[in-house]
Amino acid sequence: MNLKLENKKAFISGSTSGIGFAIAKTFAQEGAEVILNGRKESTIEAAINKLKSEVPDAKVSGLTADFSSAESVEKLLNDIGQIDILINNVGIFASQQFADTTDEDWQRMFEVNVMSGVRLSRKVLPNMLEKNWGRIIFISSECAMLVPEDLIAYSATKAMIQAISRGLAQTTKGTAVTVNAVLPGSTLSQGAERFLKGAAEQQGITEKEVADNFFKDVRTTSLLQRFATTEEVANTVVYLSSPLAAATNGAAIRVDGGSVPGII
Ligand SMILES: NC(=O)c1ccc[n+]([C@@H]2O[C@H](COP(=O)([O-])OP(=O)(O)OC[C@H]3O[C@@H](n4cnc5c(N)ncnc54)[C@H](OP(=O)(O)O)[C@@H]3O)[C@@H](O)[C@H]2O)c1
Repeated sequence: MNLKLENKKAFISGSTSGIGFAIAKTFAQEGAEVILNGRKESTIEAAINKLKSEVPDAKVSGLTADFSSAESVEKLLNDIGQIDILINNVGIFASQQFADTTDEDWQRMFEVNVMSGVRLSRKVLPNMLEKNWGRIIFISSECAMLVPEDLIAYSATKAMIQAISRGLAQTTKGTAVTVNAVLPGSTLSQGAERFLKGAAEQQGITEKEVADNFFKDVRTTSLLQRFATTEEVANTVVYLSSPLAAATNGAAIRVDGGSVPGII
């Protein structure tokens, strides 16, 4: 399937590794131009080199910005220029009891997970509407719907970005711009790999056993019963970003391995 992305330019927040990098790589494989983002020049440079080694003809550049700092984002907004596709991917989480989650924890998660997408969308959506084409995707999470007790603040930020995504979609009525949210389930990003490695060492079992136990004891509703690969999430995101997905707008698409129960 040709996704018709050859002349499109995409910015992906938080894309030097994890799901963001997989999205960037899939865009590059489809011939789109990509702008990577992370907090440091060094990780961006390493990610650009990795992408070019995996996709030799990739059109790729990078912009640093730390989404926990409004000033840093201000600079990014001045530098970002015209883009066709915005992937609001950056997101942080911490497994914490509600009673232990401080105001600062809430504020930091709100700033990175919510305001990143608000500020970027506010900047690029008017241009997209003016030229009558554009795609904005918010990377939410199964947690927006499952709300695990140790991830209440994180889940709240993800529920919030789904409301923002739907509301923005409603402002695109009658145009060829779309705004959608994607809800990944447990995905094997580098962060998840580190978690499995650490837990395996701590418990004296293999990483596979830790992963199997996670789905047996914690994410029991998963139908997939394994971590998704970052590429499996990226495939859906890149398809939704393509001209082929023109009729999907204001939607929340699950790539959660079936973990959210229910028929819609
Ligand atoms: N992995 C999962 O199981 C899962 C499940 C559901 C939803 N999600 C969502 O999917 C998205 C990506 O998740 P992931 O697991 O791939 O994340 P990740 O591996 O933790 O993401 C790391 C990336 O985020 C960047 N980053 C972190 N903090 C940043 C900040 N303050 N400013 C700018 N960049 C920052 C890092 O850049 P540098 O280190 O280079 O600065 C790196 O590129 C998130 O929104 C997450 O909530 C993930």
